[in-house]
Amino acid sequence: MSVAKRPEQNQTINYPLIVVAVIVWTVISVFVYLYGAEWFMPEAATVEADAVDNLFRFMLAIGTFIFLLVETCIFYFAVRYGFMRDKDDDTDGPPIHGNNTLEIVWTIIPAIIVFVLTIYSFQVLVDTTEAKDNEKEIKVTGQQFFWSFEYPDEQYVLKINHILVVPEDEAVKLSMNSLDVIHAFWVPAFRVKQDVMPGRTTNLRFTPNEHTGLPDPSVIDIYDPTLTVDQLDELDFGYDVVCAELCGALHGRMRGKAFVVTDEEYEQFLEGLREIEREKERQRQEALENLDALKALGRSLFATYGCNTCHQLTDANSLNMGQGPSLNGLEERAATYSGYESAEEYIRTSILNPNAFVVSGYSAGIMPQNFATRITPEDLDILVTYLAAPKDN
Ligand code: CUA
Repeated sequence: MSVAKRPEQNQTINYPLIVVAVIVWTVISVFVYLYGAEWFMPEAATVEADAVDNLFRFMLAIGTFIFLLVETCIFYFAVRYGFMRDKDDDTDGPPIHGNNTLEIVWTIIPAIIVFVLTIYSFQVLVDTTEAKDNEKEIKVTGQQFFWSFEYPDEQYVLKINHILVVPEDEAVKLSMNSLDVIHAFWVPAFRVKQDVMPGRTTNLRFTPNEHTGLPDPSVIDIYDPTLTVDQLDELDFGYDVVCAELCGALHGRMRGKAFVVTDEEYEQFLEGLREIEREKERQRQEALENLDALKALGRSLFATYGCNTCHQLTDANSLNMGQGPSLNGLEERAATYSGYESAEEYIRTSILNPNAFVVSGYSAGIMPQNFATRITPEDLDILVTYLAAPKDN
């Protein structure tokens, strides 16, 4: 068997073919830049969306060019030196030892691309996160597994679950906290996303510019506290709010809706929330004057704040022999603990600072320590009055 002779490195480069290929790749990449993102990007509803989308399309175009370059070469060489080669030619390829020009080119071009992308995307980040004048600040709270929103108001705490309402063409600043684990607040149509962490406030800024209006009350009552995200999903308008950080078993259900409204609609929405607060105030007033009403409201708060998951209380239909002491007969017992002026004072202290007095047989630190931040002063008053009130059993 004779040793195959190595061919000389004498192949000429086909420059016209390369020029044609580069022109074709460039034209396709420009086309992708102009139209490529349209068909898979969600609708855009903020001023910031343009900047983010342009950056994305720029990266998509670069990616398209590199993809075409690599795939065309693979295809061309497979055909030219695979299928089309002379069947009798079993010679080796020419031995090539380095090519300085090529190495300089493929180092410098990617370095330039990365440099440009760094400057460009940093500029977009700065533009979309900088503080604007007259921002409307809305508080966002994430918890397993829903979002709640609190709107600024002089008189009341206007809080609602699942529903973000923002005025059109006004700069909005969300200030966000988590009550438990890390979540991420994301409205794809707004193109902005931010982690939401316990013990730390993070911000998100945007200026919505595509009006949606509010749902017709005859179709869906957004003020209904039992409203579910599934009911909101049935609406054919409004922008999806999602959690973008795997936060537990029901992470996928941690959703909501954002509505962009006119100034009048915004005021109308806040007025609806104020009306709910007024109604609650009436109920609380009634409860403090009427024992039956007090008990009804107290039982419901006992469940709302999850007291029934650990404490037995027959009056509230909680037969739980849980991690916490039974609260049956608390109204009589509480008054006897030394150091407290009244049963009410003992109960209030125990809710806000559970370790202040630990019932014998139980350990400190079992009850959540964060009720002081979770419970509203009004609800606390009712709950304390309810727990201190005489009960039948
Ligand atoms: Cu919250 Cu995922």
